[in-house]
Amino acid sequence: MPPQLVKVLNDSYQAVKNDGEDVIAGLTKNPKTLPPKYFYDDYGSELFEQICELPEYYPTRTETSILEKYADEIAQITGSSELVELGSGSSTKTRLLLDAYQKIGNSFTYIPTDVSGGILKNSVLELQEKYPDFFIQGLLGTYQQTLAYLESTPTPTRTICFLGSSAGNFSPQEFDNLLTQITRSLQPGNYFLLGIDLDKSKEILEPAYNDNQGVTAAFNLNMLSHLNWRFQGNFDINLFSHQAIYNQAETQIEMYLYCQENVTFALETLDLKVNFQAGESILTEISRKFDLEILQTQLEAKGLKVKKVWTDPKKWFGLILCQA
Ligand SMILES: C[S@@+](CC[C@H](N)C(=O)[O-])C[C@H]1O[C@@H](n2cnc3c(N)ncnc32)[C@H](O)[C@@H]1O
Repeated sequence: MPPQLVKVLNDSYQAVKNDGEDVIAGLTKNPKTLPPKYFYDDYGSELFEQICELPEYYPTRTETSILEKYADEIAQITGSSELVELGSGSSTKTRLLLDAYQKIGNSFTYIPTDVSGGILKNSVLELQEKYPDFFIQGLLGTYQQTLAYLESTPTPTRTICFLGSSAGNFSPQEFDNLLTQITRSLQPGNYFLLGIDLDKSKEILEPAYNDNQGVTAAFNLNMLSHLNWRFQGNFDINLFSHQAIYNQAETQIEMYLYCQENVTFALETLDLKVNFQAGESILTEISRKFDLEILQTQLEAKGLKVKKVWTDPKKWFGLILCQA
C-alpha cells in the first residue's frame, strides 16, 4: 500500500472544525481574544505566504539568510535521518535544510506538520516530486496532537524544527508547556532547532505587522471569515479594522481587530452570541520578541542542551540548535 500522504491525527481536522471551545472561551472573556491557529484556513495560509514576501516583513528573509549560511552545518552536526517540522506551512525555507540533508545522502524522512490541511497537502506533493528519494509524510493536527503522536513514535536520529518564530505566539507559560511536550518527543541525542525573532526597535517591529499594502490586515480579518464558514457565523468583517502595536513592557507585538459599532454577532454551531461595544478589540495574536540568553537558559532548564546559536549580522533573528 502506498504511504499515506497526510496522516490526520486524532481526527484533528474534524476536531478543529467542531471543537471551537477555545473560540467560546476567548470571545466570552474580557478583553476578548482568539487563538492564532484560526488565521489558517486555505486563504489564511495563502495570505501568510504573501506576508513573507512583504518588504516590511523582515523575519522570513532574515531567517532564510541564516539557513542559507548554516543549513549544511546543521545537517552535519545532527546527522539526522528524520526531520519533523512543527507548523511547516509551505516548507519553503525548510528546503534549505532538505538540500543539506540530501548532500549527506542517508535515507531520510521529512515529516511536515500543520493545522492547515490544504497547504500541508500541496507542499507534501511538491516536495515528494523534488525529493523523490525521501520518505515524506504530512501530519495534520495541532502542535499538541502532533507532539503526542511523535512521543509514541520515537526514533534515535530525530530533529524537530520549529521555525518562523511561531514559538512567539505562545505566552511564556504556554511555551514552557510546549517545550515540555517537545522534550518528551525527543530521545536522548535527538535535536531541536528553534527559529526565533529577537527584540528590536518599535520602528522596525510595528511596520512589519502593519504593512502598507494591507496584506497583514487582510490576514487578521480573515480570521473572522474563517470562523464564519467554520462555525456558521455572521461576523461582518467590514465593521472591523486591524492594528498591531508593540507592547514594550512585554516585548511583544499584539495584533488586534477593533469593532467599530455596537453590534452582536452569532456563531451558530457554537450556540454563541457575541456582543461588541464600539471600539472594543479582539486580541488575535501575540508575537513575542526574545532575548537569546534568557531563552537559552530556559531551554537548558528543560534538558535541551544548547549546541550552537546562529544569528544574522544585525542580530534580528536567531536560530538555536539544542540536543536532548
Ligand atoms: C507563522 S506560520 C510559519 C510557517 C513556516 N514555519 C515559516 O516559518 O514560514 C505558522 C504555521 O503554523 C501553523 N499553525 C498555526 N497554529 C498552529 C497550531 N496550533 N498547531 C499546528 N500548526 C499551527 C499555521 O497553519 C502556519 O502554517
